[in-house]
Formats: sequence, C-alpha cells, structure tokens
Amino acid sequence: MILTIRPEHPEDVSAIREVIKMAFKTMPHSQHNEHLIVEALRKDDALTLSRVAEEQGKIIGYVAVSPVTLSNAEAGWYGIGPLAVSPHAQSKGVGSKLMQSVLNWLKENTKGCVLLGEPGYYSQFGFKAVEGLTFPGAPPEYFLSRSFTRYYPRARVTYHPGFYQNTAHGDANPA
Ligand SMILES: CC(C)(COP(=O)(O)OP(=O)(O)OC[C@H]1O[C@@H](n2cnc3c(N)ncnc32)[C@H](O)[C@@H]1OP(=O)(O)O)[C@@H](O)C(=O)NCCC(=O)NCCS
Repeated sequence: MILTIRPEHPEDVSAIREVIKMAFKTMPHSQHNEHLIVEALRKDDALTLSRVAEEQGKIIGYVAVSPVTLSNAEAGWYGIGPLAVSPHAQSKGVGSKLMQSVLNWLKENTKGCVLLGEPGYYSQFGFKAVEGLTFPGAPPEYFLSRSFTRYYPRARVTYHPGFYQNTAHGDANPA
C-alpha cells in the first residue's frame, strides 16, 4: 500500500472530521471536541499546517499545527495537535509518518513546538517535559516540548482560542 502525506484539500474537510472523531471516540481523556478545534482553526486561518495521510484515495490520518503564544512574548513556537489515525489503521506507522512530516517543516521554519500527549509515544520524536515551559491546567509530565535551537524558553504557553471552546470547564484541550 502506498501511503501519502499531503496538505489538506477543501474537499477533505468531512473526511478529516470523521477520522478525528473516530480516533478520539474511545480515548478516556478526550473531550470529544477535537474535530471542532480543527474547524475553528481553519475558520480563523490558524492552521499553519493541516496534513492528511491518504491510502488508496481514503484519508486515514490527520495532523494539525497552529501557532502558540508564550508569556515571555517570544515568537516562533507552535503547537502540534490534534494528531489522529483511524482506529483500523493504527499501529502501522501512519502516526509516525504524520509526525515526521510536520517535524521536517517545523525544524526548518520555527524555533520549537509543544504538544500535550503520552511521553511514551512522543519521546521517540525528541519531545520531553521541560521545567519552566508550562501549560497551566495539564499534568506537567504530559506537556512536552521540542526545541530546534537547543534553548528552551521559560514561559507559560497559550494555544489558539479554538482550543478553549466546547470544553467542559473552559479548559484548553490541545488534543
Ligand atoms: C496516537 C496515534 C495518533 C498513533 O498513531 P499510529 O498510527 O497508531 O502510530 P504508529 O503506528 O506510528 O505507532 C504505534 C506505536 O506507538 C506506540 N504508541 C501508540 N500510542 C501510544 C501511547 N498512547 N503511549 C505510548 N505509546 C504509544 C506503540 O508502541 C504503538 O505500537 P504498538 O501498536 O505495536 O504497540 C493513534 O493511536 C491515535 O489516533 N490515537 C487516538 C487519538 C490520540 O490519542 N491522539 C494523540 C493525542 S496525544
């Protein structure tokens, strides 16, 4: 099977929504609003990267990148997420290929990136919890960063407002 990672096209919108909904359906910590986050980012032109994994004409995976704000006003940092792979296509390397694809771009164009996720999965891509670079409201061990300059700012991170909508407590859900 040939797997293609490519930017989203306008006609992909409903397939992307379905992939995200299916991927997060059974995730215990999900607020099940991840597809709405992507739609809010798209509406606001805040999808820096929006890439799909396509196999035999079907979209089976998705990843978004959007700008984040640092409390020390440093520019050039981005958030990865949501990352989603259809349940039937998981554990075949699709998530890794989506991650590699956005990391290649981020390495060339940004200072660094953050995400909220399982350290066991994201450590393979160079992500780690960094003291001083924080995301209020999430357990610190799950808020992970990767710098492309080796320097890590000391700052609080805020995501795009789209991440703070439709959540149970108005908390961010950086997917
Ligand atoms: C996380 C996700 C994107 C990974 O996609 P994938 O295509 O299955 O990933 P890969 O095939 O590249 O890697 C799979 C391997 O990563 C590891 N892995 C996957 N999820 C993991 C997790 N939560 N914690 C630790 N390791 C994990 C496992 O070793 C797995 O291999 P295995 O299935 O043989 O045990 C996918 O499982 C998914 O969509 N999950 C639901 C949504 C989600 O949690 N998104 C991420 C938000 S943080």
